[in-house]
Amino acid sequence: MLKLASSNYILEYRADFPILRDGVHYLDTASSAQKPRAVIDAMTDLMETQYANIHRGLYKFSQETTTAYEAVRSKVAAFLNAPSENEIVFTRNTTEAINLVAQSWGRTFLKEGDEIILTEMEHHANIVPWQLLCDQIGIVIKTIPVLEAGTLDLDTYQTLLSERTKLVGVVHISNALGAINPARQIIQTAKAHNPEIITLIDGSQSAVHGPVDLQELGCDFFVCTGHKLYGPTGIGVLWGRYDLLDAMPPYQGGGDMIEAVTFDQTTYKAPPARFEAGTPAITEVIGLGAAIDYLTGIGMDEIAAHEKNLLDEAMTALNEIDGLTFYGTGQQKAGIISFAADWAHSSDIAMILDQCGVYVRSGHHCCMPLMQRFGIDGTIRASFGLYSNSEDIKALVEGLHKAGKMLA
Ligand SMILES: Cc1ncc(COP(=O)(O)O)c(C=O)c1O
Repeated sequence: MLKLASSNYILEYRADFPILRDGVHYLDTASSAQKPRAVIDAMTDLMETQYANIHRGLYKFSQETTTAYEAVRSKVAAFLNAPSENEIVFTRNTTEAINLVAQSWGRTFLKEGDEIILTEMEHHANIVPWQLLCDQIGIVIKTIPVLEAGTLDLDTYQTLLSERTKLVGVVHISNALGAINPARQIIQTAKAHNPEIITLIDGSQSAVHGPVDLQELGCDFFVCTGHKLYGPTGIGVLWGRYDLLDAMPPYQGGGDMIEAVTFDQTTYKAPPARFEAGTPAITEVIGLGAAIDYLTGIGMDEIAAHEKNLLDEAMTALNEIDGLTFYGTGQQKAGIISFAADWAHSSDIAMILDQCGVYVRSGHHCCMPLMQRFGIDGTIRASFGLYSNSEDIKALVEGLHKAGKMLA
């Protein structure tokens, strides 16, 4: 069991990430994770030894690459404890997965006046696709308010549910606050109100920071994105209940998603192929598979425990610095720390941290409504990954002291 951030255990894993050289303090994993050698090698190896387009060729390279590609679908299903690999749709990222649900499921099954419930802390990726539907068919968006501690106002949530509610969409772990939302409770509340309400969980952060069990969670759609999962960019995952996917029309049309095409009529394949038009991100899927193998080898519980240790260690140190306000101070929290200083603007501080080799994110974190809720234009966000360690926290604290001397 992993206990100490400074243990050999973690040093061992940090060495798997070639980019994390001495003096690099990467604290922006919530934005995108760095890649272990295993992922880089798996992608290079595919391209050097057997790369070919999939699902089409009768020759060895194509067949082997098809098998490897489809094996990753099963790996993702097992990683998320999804009932079937046929419910795993590969998309470009979380953003595309949510747009797929909005445009395919939403445009088919929602009508003017139908209501969906989101939270005030959603990433723009789980807001804007639904706003497009407001313009296209006149649905109504309601939002669960965020309380001062960065937790959800679940009493108000109860009052938002109505006979018009068709979907509840919630971020599992807030990328801007680190708050771990009670997704299971939120889903159960929706289903108790009306079992027909569809629930969508944005797992972009939760799939990375700890174990996810879709069957326990009980949602209808779940989305996540490969580049935060220590895999490559350009690959994301939509999981959907098979009966829902089966009832949904294609999101895009093209090769590989059809059964037969004539100019009179085209018929489509069953899910998941129906939703994977065109040549997919083959090399990236292989990279995602390697990332999942890598994470499974370490254990998601271990990663969660490690990040929790780092969070506690960092909060103790940061609380010693004058003039910082923290956002997202609830009990249930992942390794993401958001704060602002009363002595300088977040972006000025982030620029000084950069000079110290400390890479944090500053700004609205694609959560502008959340920033408006707190009456701020942005925060500094330090986020941990499995490779983060006490040295990173020390460098952050020293960098903040330096910034304080220069800017205060
Ligand atoms: C909670 C959350 N949702 C959605 C996204 C969007 O992910 P992507 O840009 O990979 O589509 C992110 C990425 O920052 C996120 O943190």
